[in-house]
Amino acid sequence: MRTEVAIVGAGPAGLLLSHLLGREGVDSVVVETRSREYVEARIRAGILESSTVGLLDEVGLGDRLHREGQQHRGIYLQWPGERHHLDFVELAGRSVWLYGQTELTKDLGLARDAAGQHIRYGVRDTRLHDLTTGHPYVTFTDADGGAARIDPNVVVGCDGSFGPSRAAVPDAGKQTWERTYPYAWLGILATVAPSTDELIYAWHPEGFALHSMRSASVSRLYLQVDPDTDLDEWPDERIWDALARRLGAGLEGWDLTPGPITEKSVLPMRSFVMAPMRYGRLFLAGDAAHIVPPTGAKGLNLAVADVALLAPALVALVQKNDGRLAEAYSEAALRRVWRSTHFSWWMTTMLHPNGDPFDTQLQRSQLRWVTSSRAAATGLAENYAGLPIGC
Ligand code: DHB
Repeated sequence: MRTEVAIVGAGPAGLLLSHLLGREGVDSVVVETRSREYVEARIRAGILESSTVGLLDEVGLGDRLHREGQQHRGIYLQWPGERHHLDFVELAGRSVWLYGQTELTKDLGLARDAAGQHIRYGVRDTRLHDLTTGHPYVTFTDADGGAARIDPNVVVGCDGSFGPSRAAVPDAGKQTWERTYPYAWLGILATVAPSTDELIYAWHPEGFALHSMRSASVSRLYLQVDPDTDLDEWPDERIWDALARRLGAGLEGWDLTPGPITEKSVLPMRSFVMAPMRYGRLFLAGDAAHIVPPTGAKGLNLAVADVALLAPALVALVQKNDGRLAEAYSEAALRRVWRSTHFSWWMTTMLHPNGDPFDTQLQRSQLRWVTSSRAAATGLAENYAGLPIGC
């Protein structure tokens, strides 16, 4: 197969990139190891920054989001005995939208279907070759077991942290930074109306808890747990009890309504950045180049911001043979990556007790500061609601 751009990975980054390229007349082929059903059902975060929503609107992908998503003005931050609302619209002039990654992925899939995009799901043994030459290529085994090859102008890795793209960059071609955290999140999806209008981020001596949601009848909640925790130790009743305590049931008449749990999983927490986000004719976007811990919901938004910078760079490269934006891509993308890496680390370390009494006092002090100082609250709001793309 000859094409301009080979895209490895059909998650939101890969699908959005093929959409943006397609709108400018640039042809791409997308390969994905998982099935379409798996990609569209895997549960990830659900908060879109204002710039993410702005971009989706601009490229014709915002209709269902505006119909079915929920616009949130801000979040609640709390600790035992106190709950404070931070109003991002008032503080930073921007809101966020609640819309599950599953829904965005389905919208992208339908938009690509309508454009006749070829996406190869269920492929195996994807390998990237000759990336530092003028003729890179990608080989894989297709879903029927046949050997296949793509000959593109450039390759883009949108295949996450375990995909072949990051691994194709030799150690000498990259620098990496990493931080692991001594806790994880236990996440649940429950068929019950949310007990809050906007998200609640709760610090508690037993551990952090987050009340999020997916719709008027589906709640998404998280509990800080040990990284090696066993799901068998967490029957539904224990989960709801811990959530109620940590989220402050009984505080000023507030209560948490439990309901049937339909999904339960443990999420590891890690920060990782790789630079540059390019190796010869291979460009990396999203989790293939960087991972943030979930606190603050930056992962999907960062992937969208990467692709928003990369698409015009690739259009200029393949249509006009103008490589200036492609040369600038990694440095430009990494500015936002490091901002979000810092913000996610900061939110994570402020909200998760780790057993250290000194850290506990610092956490309590920071929480009081961001909920009482307009300057501090504005800093949180600006980062959470997201900076304009390109900043
Ligand atoms: C969700 C996840 C997050 O990490 C977060 O900070 C906010 C919301 C979610 O899954 O809804």
